Amino acid sequence: MPEEIPDDEPVRVGLLGAGLIAAYHAVQLNLAAVPNRVVAVHDPDAGRAAALAAGQGAEVTDAAGVIAASDAVFICTWTSEHLPLARAAAAEGRAVFCEKPLGLDLAGAREVADALAAVPSMVGLVLRSSPALLGLREMVRDPAVGRVMNVVFRDDQYLPTQGMYASTWRGDPALAGSGVLLEHSIHDLDILEWLFGEVDTVAAQEAGFHGIVGIEDSVALLARFAGGATASLTTVWHDVLSRPSQRRVEVFCERAVLTLEGDVDGPLRRQDSAGEEVLEGEALRAWLTERGVDLRSAEERFLRAVAAHLRGEPVGRLDPDPADALRAHVLADAVYRSARGHGDQVAVPAPRHRI
Ligand SMILES: NC(=O)c1ccc[n+]([C@@H]2O[C@H](COP(=O)([O-])OP(=O)(O)OC[C@H]3O[C@@H](n4cnc5c(N)ncnc54)[C@H](O)[C@@H]3O)[C@@H](O)[C@H]2O)c1
Repeated sequence: MPEEIPDDEPVRVGLLGAGLIAAYHAVQLNLAAVPNRVVAVHDPDAGRAAALAAGQGAEVTDAAGVIAASDAVFICTWTSEHLPLARAAAAEGRAVFCEKPLGLDLAGAREVADALAAVPSMVGLVLRSSPALLGLREMVRDPAVGRVMNVVFRDDQYLPTQGMYASTWRGDPALAGSGVLLEHSIHDLDILEWLFGEVDTVAAQEAGFHGIVGIEDSVALLARFAGGATASLTTVWHDVLSRPSQRRVEVFCERAVLTLEGDVDGPLRRQDSAGEEVLEGEALRAWLTERGVDLRSAEERFLRAVAAHLRGEPVGRLDPDPADALRAHVLADAVYRSARGHGDQVAVPAPRHRI
């Protein structure tokens, strides 16, 4: 474990990977209310490392150097590198924020979760911090809406080997594992259980219209929840470059229909027999704040836990942590087994048996 630091000493953060999501985390870290400083960056793409480091006043070094210089590291590389870097950081006792998916497949994800079990750790399932999803969860939990009966979840974006993503690795199964379900909609699988409880069976179909071997670009799945509700999830990577990542979720409850039309700021609609309420942007945030919902960023909550750890205080389970991500991998694995078994229904192992 690194040396303990006094309360007002900034948490030293290292970035492993200097691409799109690393830059996003750097912005969020700079905005966080917990004192912190990005001290070191590593990326085999030297230009990217230098550009990100320069903006943060950080040094550019190798992975071991980043780990040595930091109290906490953000693993922001393509998926195949998550395991070796998680092991290296955990071996030095560093706190770790690891991007999703954890691994190329369920077995690899389990190894990452195992590696991170002994250090404070959080994962990049950032939809759990989004006001729109937090608002939808509040609405679902309101007893006045009755039971959730059926959910329609649609997620689409252009194939992210182009446009602002420009990432060739998302077309390579050795680096990404597989396609749209694992690389992108692992968020949606996590959100389905986070909102509606345990999934017990799935049935799915997948297709690959871009002809990239091992990278599916369209998945349709039907999930049944232990509580009796059902959900369909459609996820697509197309070539409509004016459509970056976007989600639409319709939740049919006994006495209300809830609709999410934007996965950050809404709008979020609640329609019942008396009419319709719409929440969006600042009004949505104010409504959540009034209800006592924590709107701090994932990065800020992580930093707070790291600072407490460095002061020698106990740190509870972070939300979401690698066990949460591993559960989403369990769901993804069941979906792929169904799709590769021509759509047969597959039972999802109950969480207590797998994690
Ligand atoms: N949470 C989210 O919403 C979200 C959004 C986008 C990406 N991601 C995840 O973040 C990760 C990175 O995605 P991205 O969009 O930033 O990709 P990116 O291509 O923009 O950046 C990845 C970077 O990792 C670097 N890299 C590869 N191996 C490395 C190593 N061993 N050490 C250090 N750097 C290494 C690459 O050179 C590249 O610059 C992926 O796991 C992706 O799924 C999460």
